[in-house]
Amino acid sequence: MRLILLGAPGSGKGTQAERLSQSIGLAHIASGDLFRKAVSEGTELGKVAKSYMDKGLLVPDEVTIKMILKRISEIDQGFMLDGFPRTIEQAQALDKALPGHPIDKAIYISVSEEELVRRLSGRRICRECQAPYHVVSSPPKTPGKCDVCGGELYQRSDDTEETVRKRLEVYFAQTAPLIEYYKRDARLAEVDGQRSIEEVSRDILSLLSQKKSEYNHQVAE
Ligand code: AP5
Repeated sequence: MRLILLGAPGSGKGTQAERLSQSIGLAHIASGDLFRKAVSEGTELGKVAKSYMDKGLLVPDEVTIKMILKRISEIDQGFMLDGFPRTIEQAQALDKALPGHPIDKAIYISVSEEELVRRLSGRRICRECQAPYHVVSSPPKTPGKCDVCGGELYQRSDDTEETVRKRLEVYFAQTAPLIEYYKRDARLAEVDGQRSIEEVSRDILSLLSQKKSEYNHQVAE
């Protein structure tokens, strides 16, 4: 299975990807995490990425596509993309790179703008394993510590109100057109991301089991 989790900043892509990778064993490829790792390691890629991320802008397609296609080529199992593609050019490059086994589904997690701002301003991330928390809706058991690995929690530098507004503006201008792109060949599935984390996970899993039974049916025919 090859999936895309599509949605605005704060819609819950990272949260759901973590849960799905644990429940159905798909590799989780998150473009934002790969960029943040490069920034923390001080690599050339990290320097380029940081200059865009700090302003809430997208890193250029050429750099992003190269990084993600390299990561995909390193794994030999099903995967889930979180944060990629984010432009039509990225989606086209992905389709071109996977001719034999294209993306099965793009799962669009829809959430209102007001709720996105609320979530991003209260988000905290584990410095070690990147697990996301929210100070109100999903706090860690021990304040400031990750439940999964005990790592320190921090607030992302692009989760300030000004940068969040810019990221949302960029999302509506450059990423939202992907909803139509995947709708056109019936690869889009929408879930209501406004519900609780558990309910959204349940909806995604039920969508995927439908997809699996359609596939088994086609093979049997
Ligand atoms: P990236 O790291 O991908 O950030 P993003 O898309 O802006 O998404 P977020 O990580 O902010 O949100 P999310 O949807 O994963 O939500 P989460 O699960 O954390 O990208 C960062 C930057 O890198 C970009 O701005 C860009 O510069 C660059 N970049 C990355 N990919 C790129 C690309 N392809 N091309 C070019 N540039 C790229 O949840 C948010 C909060 O809400 C958490 O606190 C969580 O606990 C809470 N929450 C989640 N679900 C629920 C729920 N159902 N109910 C209540 N709370 C919830």
